Amino acid sequence: MKMLTDWSDSHTESFQNEIMTFGHNLENTGLFSDEALISLLERHPSEHLDVCSMSDTPDPKYPNQFLTGDFRGVPGEVLLSAAKAGRIWINVRKAMNIHPEYRKVLDQMYGGLARETGQKAHNANGGILISSPISQTPYHFDKTETILWHVRGEKRLYVYPLTQEFIADKDYEAIITNDLVDDLPYDKSYDASAKIVDLQPGQAITWPLNSPHRVDNSSFCVSVTTEYSTRESGIKNANMIANAALRRKLGRSPSYLSDGPLKRLAKTGLGVALRKFGFVTKSDTPDMVTFKIDPAVKGFIARTEPFIRNF
Ligand SMILES: [Fe+2]
Repeated sequence: MKMLTDWSDSHTESFQNEIMTFGHNLENTGLFSDEALISLLERHPSEHLDVCSMSDTPDPKYPNQFLTGDFRGVPGEVLLSAAKAGRIWINVRKAMNIHPEYRKVLDQMYGGLARETGQKAHNANGGILISSPISQTPYHFDKTETILWHVRGEKRLYVYPLTQEFIADKDYEAIITNDLVDDLPYDKSYDASAKIVDLQPGQAITWPLNSPHRVDNSSFCVSVTTEYSTRESGIKNANMIANAALRRKLGRSPSYLSDGPLKRLAKTGLGVALRKFGFVTKSDTPDMVTFKIDPAVKGFIARTEPFIRNF
């Protein structure tokens, strides 16, 4: 099946250089209907499934406080109802990679993009996001190229400029080296500079690498997010690790944008070595489970005594 429905030469020109949308055919695969999603939720390995809610009292500067839920023993049908009714979103991580029928579609999606753009994606990963009408994805950036393939419902996307004001190198460095638990700092005034897109089913959106963005749902939504590495993202991330070391250990003020190609090449080597020798630390904040899905409770959220996630 052809996955890209309206691709033109102007899409090829804008791809990865501008905020752009294009048409896709995912809904016609039949893999995103209620029945298909219920079956998927029941088969998906629990270590790759997240059932989350949002904090009731988020910090306005760092609103990225997700609550982790316990979904063990809950039928797929109830999980789907919870996402339709409550403050719940479900991330079926790597769904497009793990299950053969979804994998086939992922290959068609990326096969189509490779044919149109001449670019091959490395390590393409695809997850399925099932989210409630009041779900919000707070302000953040992705470390690799991302495409959001929207399948059902309506959501509003805010994409922000790729400048120091919106994503400072020092914040990027801190996040890439896992030194910061919090996400990018956000201020409501940023919205005046955002490009706002109301995504419709059958529309996909992508943006220049690392552009900060956030999402507000307007209804129950089902989307696929795919992420993949490119030479550019690999080089930039290695440079940010090198720059983090220079800033912190040597008191320098490096800037990725003002480095020339030779400097970037040298810093790529340094960044790769630093990663290998343990400069990048894994976040040691444990994933605490604070609620469980309970159809007997309004909103499906029953608070539990917090415990470290073990499933
Ligand atoms: Fe994102």
